[in-house]
Amino acid sequence: LGSGPLAGKHVLVTSGPTHEPIDPVRYIANRSSGAQGTAIAVALRDLGAKVTFVTGPASVPAPAGVAVVRVETAAEMLAAVEAAFPADAAVMAAAVADWRVANASGSKLKKDGSGLAPALEFAENPDILTRVSQGALRPALVVGFAAETDHVAEYAAAKRLRKGCDWIVANDVSPATGIMGGSENAVTLITAAGSEVWPRMAKDAVARELAARIAAALRA
Ligand code: C5P
Repeated sequence: LGSGPLAGKHVLVTSGPTHEPIDPVRYIANRSSGAQGTAIAVALRDLGAKVTFVTGPASVPAPAGVAVVRVETAAEMLAAVEAAFPADAAVMAAAVADWRVANASGSKLKKDGSGLAPALEFAENPDILTRVSQGALRPALVVGFAAETDHVAEYAAAKRLRKGCDWIVANDVSPATGIMGGSENAVTLITAAGSEVWPRMAKDAVARELAARIAAALRA
């Protein structure tokens, strides 16, 4: 049996981008590396939690000592998250694609010589964070993320209420910050009590601080 402040607790972490297929060889994706979600899984593991790590196709390796569930699409991520419940806490750090290709082709799209490009149609993906926050198996603590470029605290506070999660970890992803794809993060933690601006620090340090807060909240 593990030891540490999160011993005996099951925490679910989502991480990385999703890939939404266009055809068997092409997909739509985003620039998420999975670095912050991976660091959070490591920090929770190090505090003794049993971690289920549901990850899209990330560019950093999945950590050791956690149960890794690899998915590609948002729909697969939702199914994997629901299959992993019950959990004491959920940290939804994945950059889930908002839309999937509704008319994805079962065979490779080919140029037909007409000079016309194929028209992609999109359908909205399920919002996994909202489903988890408002679902029957809701963990005691649900933490979402918000990547914003302006009005960070204000938009994130609205997102917390709209989605129904307990906390939002908000970060400013304006290009000038160098945060997206970088090794540091500057976050604002939004809770029911208000918002807390954390100093800029390494993503690993953000993860350790967040894991310590999660341990304190689950103890309370
Ligand atoms: O609405 P927005 O995408 O900014 O919200 C970000 C938060 O919602 C993140 O915690 C992300 O993991 C989660 N999310 C989700 N499913 C979606 C879209 C976002 O779980 N389809």
